[in-house]
Amino acid sequence: MADVQKTRAITAYVYRSGKAALEEYQIESEYPMSVMSLLTRLHETDPTLACRTSMCFHGTCGSCLVNVDGRDVKGCTVLVNPGETVSLRPHSKYKVLQDLVVDFRQPLAAEN
Ligand code: FES
Repeated sequence: MADVQKTRAITAYVYRSGKAALEEYQIESEYPMSVMSLLTRLHETDPTLACRTSMCFHGTCGSCLVNVDGRDVKGCTVLVNPGETVSLRPHSKYKVLQDLVVDFRQPLAAEN
């Protein structure tokens, strides 16, 4: 009897700066994946999506800062399960260069 592998879609709503709106993507996966792995798959699917994908993937470099479902996090440390829906936006504390890419040299002023 053949193994039946179950894949389910991860739905990602991703901020696109050119449209100033979220764009919907679907990625099939049978396993949980980190937000950074999800972004890598999204970038392979749509090379026009600007995001950082080549980093440590171990929670040490801090280059993967991104906003997931309204929380600023290290994307390599947050898992998304098949069947889940996430919204991905640029990190809220830095100036947006394009889509999810921010300029770490330009922190935004803190709100009072
Ligand atoms: S990829 Fe380095 S901290 Fe996340």
